[in-house]
Amino acid sequence: MTPTSPHILGAEFVCAVCHAVVDLDSTLIFSCPHVSDSDKRHVLHLREAIQPLRLVADSNPFIAFRNHLAVDAFGARVGISEQDRIKIIRTTNQQIEQICGTGFVSTPIARQDRLSDALGFSASGGVWVKDETHNVAGSQKARHLFSTLLYLLMSEHAGRVPWSFPEQRPALAIASCGNAAIAAATLARAVEWPITVFVPVSASKTVLDTLHGLNAIVQECQRREHDPPGDPCIHRFREAVAGGAIPFSVQGTENAWCLDGGRTIGWEIAADLDFVLDRMYVQVGGGAFASCVGSAFKTAGIHPRLHAVQTSGCAPLSRAWDAAIENGSARDAGARWAECMWPWEQEPHSLADGILDDETYDWISVLNAMADTGGHPIVADEMCVVRAHEMAHEFTDIDVSPTGAAGLAGLIENRSHVADNERVAVIFSGVTR
Ligand SMILES: Cc1ncc(COP(=O)(O)O)c(C=O)c1O
Ligand SMILES: [Zn+2]
Repeated sequence: MTPTSPHILGAEFVCAVCHAVVDLDSTLIFSCPHVSDSDKRHVLHLREAIQPLRLVADSNPFIAFRNHLAVDAFGARVGISEQDRIKIIRTTNQQIEQICGTGFVSTPIARQDRLSDALGFSASGGVWVKDETHNVAGSQKARHLFSTLLYLLMSEHAGRVPWSFPEQRPALAIASCGNAAIAAATLARAVEWPITVFVPVSASKTVLDTLHGLNAIVQECQRREHDPPGDPCIHRFREAVAGGAIPFSVQGTENAWCLDGGRTIGWEIAADLDFVLDRMYVQVGGGAFASCVGSAFKTAGIHPRLHAVQTSGCAPLSRAWDAAIENGSARDAGARWAECMWPWEQEPHSLADGILDDETYDWISVLNAMADTGGHPIVADEMCVVRAHEMAHEFTDIDVSPTGAAGLAGLIENRSHVADNERVAVIFSGVTR
């Protein structure tokens, strides 16, 4: 197929910090070329031509929204026919289905009437919940990782990798102790790609058992005497990547391709709702999730106020928002990284333990999305985190985890500022483990 779609012609990566432009079809590019050992503060964002949301009727969002995916544009640019690109997506999805019982399908969003009543909304307002708990590997994380996997498979298909496959594939690497690790190991297992998962010593037995069951190599990461500050899992992960492993990460700073597939969640919401949504609450750990929801909404031309939700036990993004406004503006704060975003000093703690990243890696795009939509960050008190989890179980039938319900905690915290007839949405992003 000749690359004629506007997205195919228009897309490229731009570093939000140093403005380096990286062609979409560069070989095995994951992060800004100006990242160095002493300067990790760079992040590639996708820059695309404006186009209306054009979806194809298909239950698999990676087919339905393929026209908007950068990875599909990449495939076209490196000469893979449309037929072959579709085949790669469908075949890999089938392999995933064999491993975990489901492939990627659009997840449902619905007004939760009992929850809306319990929160005091009127009949014309309410809370819409998108249920991600039945998605591949039980959370939204697999969506982010699938675009990276497709990028790797398409790179192989186009002969743009230095290894012979499948025998000599370099290992995938990820630092995570929860949903991202399980999603990464699930996708890796589906295509039999070796993976090393760097986990903290505190990782739960359930997660470790699941990872072992998926044949992942699990490395526990104790802090070493000469480690710089920050998460030792990230240090070991970066060492592995420096040694040739592939950053199979859900942090845009380490792998910009994760910011592609994660957008399917936002496109699905935009396509499913036939009314104006007033607010969207998204729980934030590393920030890739909220970044993708924000950028998907922008492509789709819907602009609910975006509220990034963190807990009082770890809220570096809210601090960055205040700092960015103070030292210029919440928009385009990338060049002011050092003044806005630094690791949370206290030991992070919350029942919502999946969003305790001490640094919000994808903070720049989340700030942009909040500034663009008139939103702002919300720091949910721990009582709201606990209440959100309880209410989710009392007033919906979704078996969501405390982390997965943390967006609702933001709504509860913010409720007195929300009119009864507003229409708001949250994503129950992860299942109870
Ligand atoms: C269920 C769930 N929801 C939301 C998040 C937050 O996503 P992000 O780290 O991209 O901000 C996580 C992160 O681990 C998660 O596991
Ligand atoms: Zn850069």
